[in-house]
Amino acid sequence: MICWLQTVLLLVPQLVLSYWVSAAPTTQNNFLYRDILKENSNKEIHFSGVKLHVDSAQPSVFAARGGNATLPCRYWYEPALSSPREVRVKWAWFPAGGGHETDVLVAIGSRSRSFRAFRDRVQLRQDFPGDAALVMTELQLDDAGRYRCEVVDGLEDKSTTVHLELRGVVFPYQHPRGRYHLSFLGAQKACEEQDSMLATFTQLFQSWREGLNWCNAGWLADGTVQYPITRPRQPCGGHRLAPGVRSYGRRHMHLHRYDVFCFSSLRGKVFYLQPSHKMNRTEAEQTCQEDGAQIAKVGQLYAAWKFAGLDHCDAGWMADGSVRYAVTKPRRNCGPSEPGVRSFGFPPPQHKYGVYCYKLDHE
Ligand SMILES: *[C@@H]1O[C@H](CO)[C@@H](O)[C@H](O)[C@H]1NC(C)=O
Ligand SMILES: *[C@@H]1O[C@H](CO)[C@@H](O)[C@H](O)[C@H]1NC(C)=O
Repeated sequence: MICWLQTVLLLVPQLVLSYWVSAAPTTQNNFLYRDILKENSNKEIHFSGVKLHVDSAQPSVFAARGGNATLPCRYWYEPALSSPREVRVKWAWFPAGGGHETDVLVAIGSRSRSFRAFRDRVQLRQDFPGDAALVMTELQLDDAGRYRCEVVDGLEDKSTTVHLELRGVVFPYQHPRGRYHLSFLGAQKACEEQDSMLATFTQLFQSWREGLNWCNAGWLADGTVQYPITRPRQPCGGHRLAPGVRSYGRRHMHLHRYDVFCFSSLRGKVFYLQPSHKMNRTEAEQTCQEDGAQIAKVGQLYAAWKFAGLDHCDAGWMADGSVRYAVTKPRRNCGPSEPGVRSFGFPPPQHKYGVYCYKLDHE
């Protein structure tokens, strides 16, 4: 069936084109459509100024990682048609971090095909005539971006776009050797290793509005290097510069080194473990495994802090060899007076602490 669909899709533009060439000279505003997709049908529909319209009820959709989302899109004709017509609907994706247009799904009538990373995770809703909403399941961190819903009926081709944003948290990350050790590719890898991805400018900007104040510059997904300042201060560009997200612009991807801003979203749970004694790094990893869990990654700790209210004053080992803790309700003897994830850097592996573990929850 899939092969058949591909053949039809390949044929459509040619048929339309040759038809247009022969029909165009004689009919100016009187487009002639032919229902090429219905077998045994040589029924020709005569349109007089009929227009195809496409729009979306919501310009942006917010969703959670691992959850579902519906991107609305509907089409209709003006004036309305008496009988329904079969159209081609195509959804394409423009990744939030930049990158090429990617096919998501193509459908004609009730037949559809989804592509690559979206295979088996997307379908058309088709709840009512003209409904072309895209239903997405098992949302992944990198699904965010702009989605275009395109409807093609013969010569008419209309589209609309919907933004998909994932609820998440932006966090600054440094190489174990310290400040400014990451090339662009190193930054990308560092985020992935922490169960996160390079943050986009929009995500960093949103975090700045929510109060992220960080004096070290970090890579973003678009290859620029920036840092968010909510409280201007001396070692940070001085008091005179206004608060804002400050940019060094696009930097050389291999030669220049900075920190990175990663974007993470909650899926699963993070918890602190400290058996009868504190542990070195090896023992910490084992302790999580014995509990049917894994030692937590930094992105998971930040997401649990932001979305699950993780609040624990004891320092614990993390998967990358750093030691951290997360505080949502600041209190005495528990670090600075603002909520946050505190870091003790990367202590020697024989030092002893508790551990933060991570488990995917199975509902
Ligand atoms: C997502 O949709 C699937 C299938 O429609 C459903 O089984 C699942 O429970 C939904 N998940 C969430 C988080 O709503
Ligand atoms: C951690 O302690 C165990 C003994 O419990 C020891 O075998 C191991 O070498 C130690 N690892 C490190 C990194 O210190």
